Amino acid sequence: MSETPNAIDAITAPVSSPGEKFFPRFEVTPELVAKAQELVALYPEGKEQSAVLPIIHHVQEEFGYVSPEAMPWIAEMCKSTPIHVAGIVTFYPGIHRKCPGKFHFRVCRTIACALAGGEELLPYICSKMGVDPAEMTDEEPMVVSPDGLWSLEAVECLANCGFGPNVMVNDTLYSQVTRGKIDDIMAACKKELAAERKEAAAAKKEAAAARKEAKAAAAAAETAEEPAEAPAAKKPAAAKKAAPKKATPKKK
Ligand code: FES
Repeated sequence: MSETPNAIDAITAPVSSPGEKFFPRFEVTPELVAKAQELVALYPEGKEQSAVLPIIHHVQEEFGYVSPEAMPWIAEMCKSTPIHVAGIVTFYPGIHRKCPGKFHFRVCRTIACALAGGEELLPYICSKMGVDPAEMTDEEPMVVSPDGLWSLEAVECLANCGFGPNVMVNDTLYSQVTRGKIDDIMAACKKELAAERKEAAAAKKEAAAARKEAKAAAAAAETAEEPAEAPAAKKPAAAKKAAPKKATPKKK
């Protein structure tokens, strides 16, 4: 008999995404623990659960989304329960349970923006990203491009209704967006990625050079510490002279 997954299993089931290549995998590091403790310390004793949402935000900022492994850890840090954390993660549409693309587009689909042209923007953005709009469902509102660079989500009001259509890309809000503006935004994103890659390559090169230099310095220091080889001891000439001659047996 096949088992039906319970609600918590369904919520915390991992959903793979091509966007994962642009974000680090969730890992509990001393820095992450220190940040969580700092956030928990902002609340009075006994109210540690209040830090769940700030920690969720931090985790999403660092890792792109709140993975199934992150939820029990957040619960532990806030003296809460995994189901409480999962409840918060699923309640807010801005919290991702799936890794977004490097550049995440939220297109406002609420009436003011829809009437201002937002509705036509969605299929245009989909074609530019190479994603299928049919993949955006209520259960899975985010669609990620196969290369992981882009992701798209139709969202409710972005609170800038008088200047629609509004589109948010990562943390930047763009208003009165047109197709031309989408082209410019995407071109700027590609430029940003190229600059980041160039910077990362330069940093990698610099680190390799520093490692090589450190290795050479260590080898030089080792050579300098080695004691000079002692010269081969010469037999003292006197000793040679003093050596008793072998007695020549007298001829009888
Ligand atoms: S309707 Fe789009 S921002 Fe409010």
